[in-house]
Amino acid sequence: MGSRWSVLAYVVGAVCFVISCSIAVFYGYKVLTHQLPIENKAQAKYQYHFVLVPEELDNEYWRLVEKGARAAAMQNHVLLEYVGPEQANIDDHLKTIQMSAASKVDGIMTQGLSDQQFTPLINRVVEKGIPVITVDTDAANSKRLAYIGTDNYFSGYMAGKALIADTNGKANVAIITGSFYKNHQQQRVKGFEDAVKSEPGIHIVAEEESNISRVRAAEKAYQILQSHPEVTAFFGTSALDGIGIAEVVEKYKSKDHLYIMGFDNLPETIAYIRKGTIQATVVQQPFQMGYDAVNMMIDIIKGREVQTVVHTNTRIMRAKDLTKLQQEDLEGVR
Ligand code: BGC
Repeated sequence: MGSRWSVLAYVVGAVCFVISCSIAVFYGYKVLTHQLPIENKAQAKYQYHFVLVPEELDNEYWRLVEKGARAAAMQNHVLLEYVGPEQANIDDHLKTIQMSAASKVDGIMTQGLSDQQFTPLINRVVEKGIPVITVDTDAANSKRLAYIGTDNYFSGYMAGKALIADTNGKANVAIITGSFYKNHQQQRVKGFEDAVKSEPGIHIVAEEESNISRVRAAEKAYQILQSHPEVTAFFGTSALDGIGIAEVVEKYKSKDHLYIMGFDNLPETIAYIRKGTIQATVVQQPFQMGYDAVNMMIDIIKGREVQTVVHTNTRIMRAKDLTKLQQEDLEGVR
């Protein structure tokens, strides 16, 4: 009887010992792995860790660049982080690049918005051994390893030529640009100005900036209509400018008397083209920029030769092109 009790006591003791050991091992493992830095865990699962830093995180245009980058990242086992300012802000943008470099990512894709602020930072990052590719906006004098995006000067030039054709060479134009100080916006405006400068019937009568905000673009369009009643055409040089201008024109002016040239083909821009409020827009390839940037970064890291400047396609879209071109765009995104 006595020995039966002691066997039972041994069994219970052994079971308790095994259970407590398992619990200790389980939680011990959890604590250890929890404290591992993300990078170590990521390295196990991913080949590389890249960061894409846009000038405005939740901007619909940039979401397309992100989509392209994520598609390429998924195909190549790349951990892709998409981080940056909630609303366009140069200091936040620069800080995000700095922080990404400090956390020793394998590659940074970002815009080269101005030579003064972005070039020295890009150079420091590249000198530290982290490759940088500029996307959408180039800092051509920096040590970035490559640029992929629109030829911004040419896109502005193309817009100017299209406006001349559509207005029969007679227009008083107001330009609303994303920023007076950012490389790509300056190049688009310069291209446009050069395209129209020898046209005697085209006059640029006002230039304002929107800080890439649609609300600000609408405010500026309203003010321009008040102070320059002679305006017959607008050119909005960033993705939400044309949309902001169209809102105001529909409210306060007869759309038949105003010509609007926008930038990009976001769904709202297309809706305004269908309604006839926006007559034309410059179409860029944001999905392709993101997709190709990730592939180029991999090539650079692997020591393969890449083209230093890759210009993605740009074209003018008008109402008559809508069905055909939209179809092509959908195919490009798939
Ligand atoms: C530009 C982007 C910009 C966006 C703003 C696009 O046309 O290419 O650089 O951030 O407009 O909405």
